[in-house]
Amino acid sequence: MNVRPTIRLEGIRKTYGEGDMAVHAIRHVDLTVMPGEYVAIMGASGSGKSTLMNIVGCLDGPTAGRYLLDGVDVRRLDDNRLSGIRNRKIGFIFQSYNMIPRTSALSNVELPLVYARVPAKERRERAIDALDKVGLAQRRNHMPSELSGGQQQRVAVARAIVTNPVLLLADEPTGALDSKSTADVLDLFDELSAAGRTIVVITHEDEVGSRAQRLVVMRDGLILSDSQTRPGSTTALVVPAQAPERAGGGRHGISVEEQHSRAAADGPI
Ligand SMILES: Nc1ncnc2c1ncn2[C@@H]1O[C@H](COP(=O)(O)OP(=O)(O)OP(=O)(O)O)[C@@H](O)[C@H]1O
Ligand SMILES: [Mg+2]
Repeated sequence: MNVRPTIRLEGIRKTYGEGDMAVHAIRHVDLTVMPGEYVAIMGASGSGKSTLMNIVGCLDGPTAGRYLLDGVDVRRLDDNRLSGIRNRKIGFIFQSYNMIPRTSALSNVELPLVYARVPAKERRERAIDALDKVGLAQRRNHMPSELSGGQQQRVAVARAIVTNPVLLLADEPTGALDSKSTADVLDLFDELSAAGRTIVVITHEDEVGSRAQRLVVMRDGLILSDSQTRPGSTTALVVPAQAPERAGGGRHGISVEEQHSRAAADGPI
């Protein structure tokens, strides 16, 4: 089987600043995520999670290394193309929902389709369908201020899936939610994962991390561990666990130890 990885990071490094002021936020990361995988990225504060998310989300470029998003080498793209590919291929979910105030749930969900120049009628149908998937079709005319935090986050999930992206990328999606709303959003992620969606979620919360199928732990800009957490729950789209890519910890055969030694070889830290 020759399935194209959704994410392929090769020798990624990210340094902020220069000289004595340099911060090596990502020292060396190789990571491959296949279509249909549900991956959580965890790690202590400052370990490089958001930096990695910004690179994966094409919001920032790496200092070194190569990133293929759904087979496209994003380094070769200018800003215009990059924002185009970001809109088409990635659905973002943030901690703060990012709803447009005084604008209905439906219009909020339609927005990415406006950018994609989808005609109004189709836009409406797809947005209602997405709201239906998150269980909020009846609330479509409500303003964000008339929705609970958990409901707003579900609208944000609808907005993220309405373009049918190859990747759902969530940064602390439950960080602002109470335990009931957290459970709702996690149930929703389970459903989306079961439907074959590729999900990468960055989180501090063990409860969130343990729901994913694969857990990547970062420390000091390196991947500390990478393991399958729920091997029985993979979908048909996932490459079988015995595939060569998974040998040695999940990233095209390069073990965590090897990544650490490569990081050392990259130069002084
Ligand atoms: N724009 C920036 N300029 C300089 N240093 C930065 C910048 N962004 C992040 N850093 C540094 O890079 C390192 C990694 O930061 P990052 O935000 O990726 O961590 P994180 O794992 O997301 O942490 P948290 O869990 O607190 O969100 C930290 O030492 C941080 O101070
Ligand atoms: Mg962060």
